[in-house]
Amino acid sequence: MSPFRITRTLPEDATDAALRTDVRDGLSAFPRTLPPKWFYDAHGSDLFERITGLPEYYPTRAEREILVDCSAEIAAAAGARTLVELGSGSSEKTRHLIAALTGLHTYVPVDVSESALTQAGRALIAERPGLGVHALIADFTAPLTLPDTPGPRLLAFLGGTIGNLVPDERAAFLASVRGLLAPGDALLLGTDLVKDEDVLVRAYDDAAGVTAAFNKNVLAVVNRELGADFDPGAFDHVALWDAENEWIEMRLRSRTAQTVKIPALDLAVDFAAGEDLRTEVSAKFRQEGVRAELSAAGLELTHWWTDREGRFALSLSAVR
Ligand code: SAH
Ligand code: AVI
Repeated sequence: MSPFRITRTLPEDATDAALRTDVRDGLSAFPRTLPPKWFYDAHGSDLFERITGLPEYYPTRAEREILVDCSAEIAAAAGARTLVELGSGSSEKTRHLIAALTGLHTYVPVDVSESALTQAGRALIAERPGLGVHALIADFTAPLTLPDTPGPRLLAFLGGTIGNLVPDERAAFLASVRGLLAPGDALLLGTDLVKDEDVLVRAYDDAAGVTAAFNKNVLAVVNRELGADFDPGAFDHVALWDAENEWIEMRLRSRTAQTVKIPALDLAVDFAAGEDLRTEVSAKFRQEGVRAELSAAGLELTHWWTDREGRFALSLSAVR
């Protein structure tokens, strides 16, 4: 058997149906919203990789620092034979953890982006011959069936991607993650931490405009998949700190009054001048909040590591 397998857990028409539902529901509602998972076609995945190298975007560097410094400790605590990673993207930082997990049998990266999974899987096989890589093209917010591989399992959710879910979605997500874990398994969770507003806003509104291009890419996805006529130039990229919810919001603000047609949905959406379309929240956390959310899902936080500047945290939790 080839050491690299890729499995599509949902037929392509289910993805198409999910996009139609999300676009119809999100653009018919006020305020208008689109879920962030639709950023990540091949171009959006490339743009995200560029974001991770921007001087303003500290989360990737901070989390990498923790993984470089603490992977041996994480590996000793988890002792995993199967590493499952949700929203794995390029798996670039995960390499440090994989190298430390000396008894690892199989790595299971899970992502909606087929291009990211394919590139990452091939690179890993070349780097660690003998490691089984079974990639799943899947939506981590939907019920997930994992391959039958040896335990214990370590389930990693890195990058702070949990912050892209709103609180109700996070509770449902953590409950479903708990359902995937058996006694002796663990969850490794990356959370970006609350910090100075200027630092946060700059991380989501960089000088080179890469985050703006990433944000507008969702319009290109809807144009291509549903025949819509969004003009990305007719929207401004906006990044705001919501102090009450402690999250960054990315929005696309209509520069003028305009009507966007979406023929595949037989829908026309009127935007007023200055009207916002919310495309992402990126919640920032505190240790007490992370502990409480994990606990509500039946998980107990056992370890907490931060980078040296205290910007980002990795936590390890066990089944309670
Ligand atoms: N973990 C990587 C990538 C983070 S970017 C890192 O830390 O750098 C977020 C990743 O999650 C992208 O690869 C995107 O394709 C994936 N993603 C976003 N929403 C998803 C969903 N609902 N289901 C599965 N993957 C998703
Ligand atoms: C993937 N996720 C954690 C990123 C974040 O920081 O919320 C996505 C992103 N959006 C804009 N820049 C990066």
